[in-house]
Amino acid sequence: MLPGYGAVGRAPTSPGIMMGMSESSGALWHGFADMGAVTANGPFVVTRGEGTRIYDRDGKEYLDATAGLWFTNIGHGRTEIAEAVSRQLTSIAHYSNFGDIASDVTLRLAEELAQIAPVPGSKIFFTSGGSDSIDTAVKLARRYWVEQGKPEKRVVVSRTKAYHGMHAAGTSLAGIPLNHDGYGELMHDVQNVDWDDAKSLLGLVERVGAENIAAFFCEPIIGAGGIYLPPEGYLAEVRAICRDHDILFVADEVVTGFGRIGGDSWFASARFDLQPDMITTAKGLTSGYVPMGAVFAAPRVAEPFFAGGVWFRHGYTYGGHAAAAAAALANLDIIRREGLLAEATRLEGDLAAALSPLAELDSVSEVRTGLGAVTAVQLADPSTAPAAVLKLREHGVSTRAAGQGALQISPAFVMTTAEVGELADRIRTALS
Ligand SMILES: Cc1ncc(COP(=O)(O)O)c(C=O)c1O
Repeated sequence: MLPGYGAVGRAPTSPGIMMGMSESSGALWHGFADMGAVTANGPFVVTRGEGTRIYDRDGKEYLDATAGLWFTNIGHGRTEIAEAVSRQLTSIAHYSNFGDIASDVTLRLAEELAQIAPVPGSKIFFTSGGSDSIDTAVKLARRYWVEQGKPEKRVVVSRTKAYHGMHAAGTSLAGIPLNHDGYGELMHDVQNVDWDDAKSLLGLVERVGAENIAAFFCEPIIGAGGIYLPPEGYLAEVRAICRDHDILFVADEVVTGFGRIGGDSWFASARFDLQPDMITTAKGLTSGYVPMGAVFAAPRVAEPFFAGGVWFRHGYTYGGHAAAAAAALANLDIIRREGLLAEATRLEGDLAAALSPLAELDSVSEVRTGLGAVTAVQLADPSTAPAAVLKLREHGVSTRAAGQGALQISPAFVMTTAEVGELADRIRTALS
């Protein structure tokens, strides 16, 4: 056990820790984990969050460098969200949004999202999270082309390093080989192009034929694949290629949406004027207080399904969940009232100023920063990442490694400039 890392996994010595022992009895199968190691070392048990900080069961405080899994954009412990959800739960928790049924709160949220959509007139299809949103967008892209009388347009293109969630479609689109290896072919007609070179997409279009390609999926910033910012001009170039060849452009904004992209923008699609055919979202929609996702469909994509007589035979029990919609409305309200889009823009500069100097450390090879409230502190030796994450915890920073040893820094928008400095100091001490 690391010094200063509390009593995680130790024998019980007090009633509080007794409770901890039963929590870590070993029944929980964690996502993306070496369960042998987790079982041997014990879990990192988080019990409370407040603003930009989280606390473990021993009361030790950590700066939350990642905003959970990139979602707590408004910070932890907001009672307004709890109150909004509580009010909705006691009114009606959820009913359905299949057929002609909808909750009033779900209708209100759809209208609000349509108002901030980068493409005017967009329609909103609700999901339970990011992976659902990806599955929805893949199916909608193919169905759209069927409705256009072009059923042969089926190929879906993603990029190396891409992460599009872990449902069958997202797993197939993964540009991180370890995330799709070992499952066989879950989805046919998927192609992968270089993440940073628009010519790679163009080459694929020439080889496969635009007449066979349904859609191109693109994270404006590569997230879980290692936090890579788009090369200058890249997004505009791939957008133009898709437009020229009549390929649907899907912006996966599960991470970048709802302000994280900075530039006082709700979406990267607005900041880079991408005019996407679809936008996939989740996380920041509710700041992760309850699970919810949404697909924004531009008028072009929605029209065939709104003209009458055509169904999109797709939907989720919890799509548009009323309590989740109440949380999302309260979240959007907080973002507006507190000017958090501007705060995310401030963080873009703060993170770059405070974290770039970490590149001087021998243990750090590069700091990728300067776009949105997102930064990667790239470790020179990726194999040291697990130990570095534990060391950072020891020094009061909760983060994780993405891609090949990139430490993820994506704090809540309410992290102050002084706290960013504190975060940088703690990281420097831990990695020195
Ligand atoms: C870009 C991107 N797309 C999709 C997803 C999947 O979202 P979820 O984990 O909510 O299913 C993620 C999750 O991190 C993501 O980063």
